[in-house]
Amino acid sequence: MVSAAHTVSTWHGVVAHYRPRLRINSSVPPVTLLEGNTPLIPAPRLARALGGDFELLLKYEGVNPTGSFKDRGMTAAITQAVADGAQAVICASTGNTAASAAAYAARAGLACVVLVPDGKIAAGKLAGALSYGAQVIAINGNFDDGLRMVREATERAPIVLVNNINPARLQGQKTAAFEICDALGEAPDWLCLPVGNAGNITAYWMGFTEYLEDGLIRSRPRLLGAQAAGAAPIVRGHVVEKPETIATAIRIGNPVRWQQALAALSESNGHITDVTDEEILHWYRMVAQTEGVFVEPACASSLAAIAKGRREGWLDLRGKRVVCVMTGHGLKDPDTALSGLPAPVTIQPQIEALLDVLQVR
Ligand code: F0G
Repeated sequence: MVSAAHTVSTWHGVVAHYRPRLRINSSVPPVTLLEGNTPLIPAPRLARALGGDFELLLKYEGVNPTGSFKDRGMTAAITQAVADGAQAVICASTGNTAASAAAYAARAGLACVVLVPDGKIAAGKLAGALSYGAQVIAINGNFDDGLRMVREATERAPIVLVNNINPARLQGQKTAAFEICDALGEAPDWLCLPVGNAGNITAYWMGFTEYLEDGLIRSRPRLLGAQAAGAAPIVRGHVVEKPETIATAIRIGNPVRWQQALAALSESNGHITDVTDEEILHWYRMVAQTEGVFVEPACASSLAAIAKGRREGWLDLRGKRVVCVMTGHGLKDPDTALSGLPAPVTIQPQIEALLDVLQVR
């Protein structure tokens, strides 16, 4: 007979799993949706499309409870907010942080306010934030405007900021680096990821560095960051006042963790590059159609960056093991998914009609 205990997951979320490594106030039970422990999926067909001769793995963060990597940071930030006695949390967001904050706040019984750029947030993210019961405020401005506003609000009102300025967020997000090393027994040669507010690249680097210092890995990966051409402040070296890209998740012109991202890129002997929306859309379709991994557009920027680096000759991946972080699920952005694809063929409910379409007469 199988006892009830055996039917329950033995995974208790990233705070419980990595608690001794997380520098957060965790004097209360973790506020968790059992995030993390995400798959590292081999992607040989996609690797071939990117020129072959290297090993490609996808860290599929879209399968986190609210559909993005943000849940790793949010379990840490909301756990700490509860431990600190907070009643309410606030963030600015291009969408994923909003949905994640809303979910974890709901679970903790906290009020949640999110500021999002009006009309520039993917439908699945807005649906999430609203469904989890957050107060959603759409601003006639971009993410950077929203962040400026919420920072000021938290200085004036008793409400906790859960953007990645909050150090607890990075503490939670660094667990993705731990998971990759735990799964591989070492760090990969390269880690590729999209860069928006630059919290995630900073958190990954922190995670790899801590594992190296503790002797759990022998070396750290080189980092390859990707920005969208219309929202590439780090690549250009200056603030972008009006960022634009189809990859709305990374539509950011003035990243908070800019300096830390530059430090991580230089310490890792890495690269950061920009890719066009056309390149993003191409690899967005490719990852779904060659590997069955459905991601949101921002994720494909890292694949586009690999393609660009190989095409231009500055990225030598021969014989290397490469992990690309697929930061958010494809269902987050159904409008982009459907645009540019043919609508389904509609037929009568008769076998002849089906055989016609299948051309088997
Ligand atoms: N990928 C996705 C799917 C994201 O939602 C984000 C950021 C990033 C990559 C970039 O990560 O900001 O740490 O460099 N989304 C934030 C949000 C800004 O509000 O959801 P980053």
